[in-house]
This record gives sequence, C-alpha cells and structure tokens, in this order.
Amino acid sequence: MRIAIITGGSKGLGLSLCLQLRERGYRVIEFSRSAPHEFSVMVDLSSPEESRRAILSAIGGIESEPLEEIIVINNAGMLEPIGPTSRKDHPALIANMNTNFTSAILFVTEVVGQFQSIPCRKVIANISSGAALNGYAGWTLYCAAKAGLENFVRALAVEQKQETHPFIPVNINPGVIDTEMQALIRATSAADFPDVGHFVRRKEQGELAAPFAVAAAILRIVESPTLEFGARYNVADYSRG
Ligand SMILES: NC(=O)c1ccc[n+]([C@@H]2O[C@H](COP(=O)([O-])OP(=O)(O)OC[C@H]3O[C@@H](n4cnc5c(N)ncnc54)[C@H](OP(=O)(O)O)[C@@H]3O)[C@@H](O)[C@H]2O)c1
Repeated sequence: MRIAIITGGSKGLGLSLCLQLRERGYRVIEFSRSAPHEFSVMVDLSSPEESRRAILSAIGGIESEPLEEIIVINNAGMLEPIGPTSRKDHPALIANMNTNFTSAILFVTEVVGQFQSIPCRKVIANISSGAALNGYAGWTLYCAAKAGLENFVRALAVEQKQETHPFIPVNINPGVIDTEMQALIRATSAADFPDVGHFVRRKEQGELAAPFAVAAAILRIVESPTLEFGARYNVADYSRG
C-alpha cells in the first residue's frame, strides 16, 4: 500500500494534492476543520492537544500493514491575524502559531515516530512560502512560522540521514496560487497589509497559478528519485506549459 498523509486538503492546493494522490493510487488521510472527504479527519490545528490526539488515532495501526511508500505533506496554513504587531490580538496570535507552527511540528513528529522503522520510501514535504525568506509587513506571524518550519525540516533532514530507514524531509515553495488564501490577501486593507496592491495586480495580470497545476508540480518533486535531504524546491522550476 502507498499512503499519503496530508493536512489542509479540504480546499485550495491541498484539495488538488489529495485528488491527484488518489488518482495515482495512494490511500490518502487528510486533516482539516471542514473535513469534507470520506478520507478526512476533522481537526482544528489551532488546538495542539486536539491535533495530536486526532493524528495519533488516525495513523495508529497502519504501520502493521504492508507499506510500499509514505508521503507526508504539511500543507495547512493560515494568514490571519493580518495587520501591525501593535494591534495583534493575543488569542488570534496563539491560534496562528499553533496552526502554522506547533501543530505542524506535532504532525510531522507523530508521523515520524509511527513510521520510523518502516523500510520503504518515505518523504516529508513541507509546503512553505516566499514568506519564509522575506519579511512582509502585516504577516509577521505567518513569516515567522514559515521560516521556523523550514529550519525544522532542515534539522530533521540532518537527523534522518543517520537513520536506517529515513524519511527524506524537504521544503517546497509553491509560488502564488489562485486559492481562498489569495482572495483573503486581496480583500485586506492597505493599512493592515501595505503590499496588497502588488497581489491585486498579480491576479489582474493572470499571474496566479491554478491549484491543480501547482499540485502536479509538487507531486513531480515529491516522486523524484533524486530528492535531496533538506533541500528547498521551487514549484516554478517544475511547472509545465
Ligand atoms: N495561495 C498562495 O498563493 C500560497 C503561496 C505560498 C504558500 N502557500 C501555502 O500553501 C498552503 C496551502 O494554501 P492554500 O492557498 O491552498 O490555502 P487555503 O485555500 O486557505 O486552504 C488552507 C487549508 O488549510 C486548512 N486549515 C487552515 N486552518 C486550519 C486549522 N485551524 N485546522 C485545520 N486545518 C486548517 C484549511 O482547511 P479548513 O478550512 O477546512 O480547516 C484548508 O484545507 C499553505 O501552507 C500556504 O501557506 C500558499
């Protein structure tokens, strides 16, 4: 059995990834709040304890089945609260860091713990962002979480290289995708997000990639036989057409 375990597959990029993984014959387990698929697990990643319980209960026991490949995709993400740090609301700040960072690390950690000794091809793909490398006013939490997670993945890659049956952890920058996240960005005021005009122009000029095309490129990266431990891949380099 080939298995894919992914967060945030209810819509946007994650939905396209789930559908294409299923087409390729993977058994998919997806985690989100709306959990719209028969293969979904309902969880709010802003609560780390709830996340850990849901993840463990969904993946427990699978390790005893014959596994040929395990693909793990950390994809769920959120931008809110957008706006200056002086006006960030404390509960919203915690929810953002829990969703984008703490639960993402819990997700990867529990999956690695469950499947470390399984002798098959194993990949962890962290869906990152240009915001991991650049600072954007109004997006301090999102930028912090994306940057922190990228280095978590790089450190995990160093660890995994020492393992007998390693996962290959990689970061993937998907580029700008036409999803609800981009609609939210365009609907933000310039007071909260000074770069909003840039993103409005990119949409008007047709520069947003379709989620299905980005998902296909991500799967080309993930399935590559030359995948490198801890590397950072750009979807733009793997897009077709
Ligand atoms: N769109 C872009 O231009 C762009 C650019 C760079 C990087 N990215 C990254 O690509 C990934 C996918 O983004 P997208 O554009 O597809 O976003 P999206 O359309 O907003 O979808 C986000 C996904 O994350 C899930 N999610 C969000 N908060 C959650 C929570 N508290 N608990 C559980 N699930 C949660 C959502 O599911 P529910 O709402 O059902 O919970 C949904 O499936 C994200 O990591 C994002 O940072 C996107």
